[in-house]
Parts: sequence; structure tokens; C-alpha cells
Amino acid sequence: MLLPISLFVALPSFLLFAQAQQQLSLDTVVDLDSSKLQSPPSFKLPSDSNPLYVSIALCANSDSPPRFFVSNDTTFTQPGPGDVDNVSVFEVIVGSEGFGSWTGMLANGGILSIQKGSTTTPFEVLVSANNATSESDYPYVGDTTSNQALVFSPPFSPVLINEPSYPNYTLPSANLSLPEPPSNPSNYSLVFANSSSPALKSLPRTTCAIRATALQGSRTGVEFLTTNQSQGLWLRDQDGWRWQWFIGGLTPRTNYTAYTLQNGMLAASKPLNFVTKTASFNCPLVHNLPFCPSVSYAVPLAPPRAPASAHTASTLPRNISDTITSIMANFTTTLTTLACGRDNYSPLVTCADCQQAYRTWLCAVSFPRCGETPASSLLATTPNSQAQVPLPALQSVKAGATPRSMILPAFSSAYETLLPCLETCNAVDRACPAFLGFKCPLPRFTASRSYGVGYVDSGDDGEVGGGQTGVAQDVYGNVWCNAG
Ligand SMILES: *[C@@H]1O[C@H](CO)[C@@H](O)[C@H](O)[C@H]1NC(C)=O
Ligand SMILES: *[C@@H]1O[C@H](CO)[C@@H](O)[C@H](O)[C@H]1NC(C)=O
Ligand SMILES: *[C@@H]1O[C@H](CO)[C@@H](O)[C@H](O)[C@H]1NC(C)=O
Ligand SMILES: *[C@@H]1O[C@H](CO)[C@@H](O)[C@H](O)[C@H]1NC(C)=O
Ligand SMILES: *[C@@H]1O[C@H](CO)[C@@H](O)[C@H](O)[C@H]1NC(C)=O
Ligand SMILES: *[C@@H]1O[C@H](CO)[C@@H](O)[C@H](O)[C@H]1NC(C)=O
Ligand SMILES: *[C@@H]1O[C@H](CO)[C@@H](O)[C@H](O)[C@H]1NC(C)=O
Ligand SMILES: *[C@@H]1O[C@H](CO)[C@@H](O)[C@H](O)[C@H]1NC(C)=O
Ligand SMILES: *[C@@H]1O[C@H](CO)[C@@H](O)[C@H](O)[C@H]1NC(C)=O
Ligand SMILES: *[C@@H]1O[C@H](CO)[C@@H](O)[C@H](O)[C@H]1NC(C)=O
Ligand SMILES: *[C@@H]1O[C@H](CO)[C@@H](O)[C@H](O)[C@H]1NC(C)=O
Repeated sequence: MLLPISLFVALPSFLLFAQAQQQLSLDTVVDLDSSKLQSPPSFKLPSDSNPLYVSIALCANSDSPPRFFVSNDTTFTQPGPGDVDNVSVFEVIVGSEGFGSWTGMLANGGILSIQKGSTTTPFEVLVSANNATSESDYPYVGDTTSNQALVFSPPFSPVLINEPSYPNYTLPSANLSLPEPPSNPSNYSLVFANSSSPALKSLPRTTCAIRATALQGSRTGVEFLTTNQSQGLWLRDQDGWRWQWFIGGLTPRTNYTAYTLQNGMLAASKPLNFVTKTASFNCPLVHNLPFCPSVSYAVPLAPPRAPASAHTASTLPRNISDTITSIMANFTTTLTTLACGRDNYSPLVTCADCQQAYRTWLCAVSFPRCGETPASSLLATTPNSQAQVPLPALQSVKAGATPRSMILPAFSSAYETLLPCLETCNAVDRACPAFLGFKCPLPRFTASRSYGVGYVDSGDDGEVGGGQTGVAQDVYGNVWCNAG
């Protein structure tokens, strides 16, 4: 599908007057169009003593896309297919997802030449010390309700944990506060649409193609959110900081596709799916709890007072946060009766690892996660793959039943709870000293009454990995157990 050219092309005015070959500058994205190239259609590349990447992204689908040739021998003025020798003339291969890059030495500069195809195609070029088409991670979905979703960018700026040392072995406070966020965070925007909508389907997976479609707005049903429209930065775990978007106004029981676009990257993130719940689903989302940083899912708890439509630390009933920080403080006190950092109980793990694993587990069991039996109509399109999708670890809870967590009050309506993954419990068992007496149920016996068993790990005692799904939730919108 071709989109009108006028929507993409911001042809830099200098190109219109160009006679001689133009020089491309480092780290400047140049928007071009195959039908409006100067003659000859080639550019000078900068020289550098380090290897450089020449990255290309197509900004629309094309039956006959242009081809791109790089030479690091400046005696070629217009290298073409016949000159490719992989010694001084190379083709930049643009893959099926619409982007590609070449890397090599441009000690004396070089030439990028473009051989146009038979159809008009807008594209972007970037010369940089980095691969602007390298696969970035997937975004991450915390959870959904019937009309809301919590979506996080891929992680960046990982946080280094300073391992405390004996005799001043100070563990993070029970009422954890997040460290200072990075001063210069990566800039991401979020794009999402109904997975059934045709708008994103046939597009190249490039920043320029997806952004251009999103900026056409409501006509395409593709939404575009910048970091300014996010909830800010959040540190769920040590993978790093992420932008967090709280999305409202979604349609119940709908499968959505999301991408994140990172400034300076020509390739978009990989696509992620999430599925909203049925209209009757009434557990609110709980997130932004510094003492439970990984909690970002729906919890059986009375909703916050309007205008808030999800719980954060400031709307959560005070006795709930007080109870959790008190349990955490008491656990930390008991743990540090051990001379942490001196009396090592394991060559692999430390008191800090134990405290962190315990926090994740405590938060996952204190805040039960609401779930829902997946609608078979939303499941994978191929008939035989349906049988292969295992059912999630759901348990029905009657209205007003005493909650398992003991920390939350009874919930006024019936709901289904997604059990915590047994691996979240086993992680504590592995990271903590034996004298604490922390024990998880055995997979073969009682574990499946209170945990999701066999999804990540096989469920055979002590065996790590080999589970049915390998993960607690996948990138297609399936969720099997609550990893916390
Ligand atoms: C150059 O490398 C490409 C990709 O590795 C290969 O397909 C092509 O055949 C090579 N061409 C020559 C002339 O060696
Ligand atoms: C051109 O690229 C080739 C392959 O990367 C490299 O061996 C050669 O040194 C480069 N020449 C210059 C002048 O940078
Ligand atoms: C850039 O990254 C992509 C994806 O990770 C990879 O396929 C490609 O080969 C890389 N390009 C270069 C020139 O290394
Ligand atoms: C112990 O470590 C904490 C945090 O690392 C620090 O704030 C405190 O000043 C240290 N105390 C002593 C006595 O070194
Ligand atoms: C981040 O990206 C958005 C969307 O592309 C843009 O509007 C915004 O100005 C950028 N912010 C910064 C600080 O570069
Ligand atoms: C999403 O797509 C499905 C299937 O085409 C359609 O039934 C549904 O109405 C769409 N939802 C929205 C919000 O556009
Ligand atoms: C985002 O916020 C920053 C700082 O508040 C502001 O400078 C910038 O212009 C805003 N960008 C957009 C696209 O609104
Ligand atoms: C945790 O700390 C924050 C700020 O540091 C404070 O506002 C909050 O009341 C504390 N919570 C508890 C449960 O102590
Ligand atoms: C933590 O320990 C204190 C003192 O032993 C006790 O009063 C309190 O009830 C404990 N908190 C919890 C949540 O068990
Ligand atoms: C959502 O849609 C995608 C693409 O159509 C599909 O691969 C995925 O399985 C769907 N997810 C769920 C949970 O049905
Ligand atoms: C917190 O207070 C509410 C209402 O006052 C009560 O129903 C609930 O049991 C209390 N929870 C805890 C953990 O004390």
C-alpha cells in the first residue's frame, strides 16, 4: 500500500538547489524520496578513523524499492550493481522489514549511490558510529483492564547496584525509593492500533513509516504518544529505566499491536500485542509503588476515588502500604542477624539478592493479580496453534471471599485471580539463607493450589527451565502466571 508522498517528504531545501554531490553529515537523519533525487543520485560520506554504519529505512511499502550502494573508494562516483566486489563497493541490503545497514571503514570518506526503482519510495539515510537498525527490545505490557493498558518502553540506562559490604552492610530500606532517574533519558514514543486495523499491517517496521502513519491521526486509528504524554520514567527492575504510558479509552476484548519508536533509530521496536479484558472486568490497575516497583497490574481492590482511574502509592489505602513495608522491614531485620557480607551462605547470592527476591515475591502474593480466561476468538489465527496455547493459572474467587493475600480487604465482586508463578517463590528459596526457613510448596504436591506451576520451569523438582511456555507472559498478549 502506498501512502501519498506529501505526507512524508520534508525534502531539505538545500537538495533542491544542489548541483554537486552533497555531503552527508554524521548523526543527521536525512529524509529523501526516490523520485526527487538530485542527479547523479549520490552523496559523499564523511571520513572517520572508526568504523561507520550507513543505515537505510524505507518509509513506505514499495513493489520496486530503490537499491543502495556504498563505496569507500572515492574514485567511484556512482557505484552500481555491476561494481559490487565486497572490497571497496558494497550493496546495503534492505531487508523485508524495510531497513538495513552496512558497516565498514571510510578512512577517506566514501560515496552512497542510489539506484531508484520503478515506484516512488520515501526513505531515510543515517551515517553514524552506531547501527541505527539494530534490533531493539520489545516494549513491555504491565497489564490491561477492559479499557486501559499500562505499556512500558524497552529498558535503557540499566542501574548498577552497589553491593554493600561488611561491616557497614546496609540494605535498601523497606520503604524503597527509586534512585535518581537518568538526566538524559532516551526519547521514545509509543504507537498502537487495533491489531485488526489494516493501517500498521503492511508497513515497513521503520520509525519513519510508522510515525508517518500515526501522525495521520484518527483516520487510520493509529495512536501516537510521546514521552510528554507518559507517566514518566519507572524502574521496574534492574534491566533499566523505562517510559511508562497509561492508556485509557480502549475497547474491551480487543487485541492491540504496539511499537515504540526511539529517536535516532531508523528501525522501530519489535511489535507487541496486548488484549483488553471484557467490559465486566472491574479490578483497577495498581502501579507506581516505590516499595513494590514491579507491580503494574490489575488487583482486586476497590477503585481509587475519581479523578484517579488507577491506584498509585498516593491512592493506595495507607494500611496496605504500611503492612507491606512493615513485613519487609521485619524480614530485613531477621536477614541481617546474619553477618551479611562476612558470613557468606552461598558463593552465588548475597543478602541483597535475598532481600530483592523476597520483595518481588511479597509484592506478588500481597497484590493478587486479576486475570481472565482468554477468548478463543482472539487466539492465534491458525487453527492447529490454538490447541498449543496452554491455559493460564486462573482461580475463581467468590464475591466477598476472604482474600488469600491477608493484606487486601475482601473484594465485593467475583473475579478470577492469576496465580503467582512458582518460580517467583523458588527465586527466594534460592537467594536466601536456609535459617530463614523460607519454603515453597513442591510442584508435584500442593503447589498448583497457590501457584502457577510448569509454565516457566518444567515443574520437576529443582529443574530450571523447560516449562510449557518458558515465560510468564509473551509478546503476543498471552499471560499465564503472575511473575510479580
Ligand atoms: C557480496 O556479499 C553479498 C552478501 O554477503 C553476497 O550476496 C554477494 O554475492 C557478494 N558479492 C561478491 C561480488 O562477492
Ligand atoms: C574499505 O572497506 C574495506 C572492507 O571493510 C576495508 O578493508 C578497507 O580498508 C576500506 N578502505 C578504506 C580506504 O577505508
Ligand atoms: C544492524 O543490526 C541488525 C539487527 O540487529 C543486524 O541484522 C545488522 O546486520 C546490523 N548491521 C550491521 C551492518 O552490522
Ligand atoms: C554505611 O553505608 C550507608 C549507605 O551506603 C551510608 O549512608 C553510611 O554513612 C555508612 N555508615 C558508615 C558508618 O560508614
Ligand atoms: C522526543 O520525540 C518526540 C516525538 O518524536 C518529539 O516530539 C520530542 O520533541 C522529542 N523530545 C526530545 C527531547 O528530543
Ligand atoms: C478492532 O478490529 C475488530 C476486527 O476487525 C473489530 O471488530 C473491532 O470493532 C475493532 N475495534 C476497534 C476499537 O476499532
Ligand atoms: C515535552 O516537555 C518538554 C519539557 O517539559 C518540553 O520542552 C517539550 O517541548 C515538550 N515536547 C512536546 C512535543 O510537547
Ligand atoms: C515511604 O516513603 C515515602 C516518601 O519517601 C512516604 O511518602 C511514604 O509515606 C512512606 N510509606 C510508608 C508506608 O512508610
Ligand atoms: C514487625 O515486627 C514488629 C516488632 O516485632 C511487630 O510489632 C509487627 O507486628 C511486625 N509486623 C508484621 C507485619 O508482622
Ligand atoms: C493478537 O493478535 C496477534 C496478531 O494478529 C496474534 O498473533 C496474537 O496471538 C493475538 N493475541 C492473543 C492473545 O490472542
Ligand atoms: C485496611 O483498612 C480497611 C478499611 O478500613 C480494612 O477493611 C482492611 O482490612 C485493612 N487492612 C489491613 C491489612 O489492615
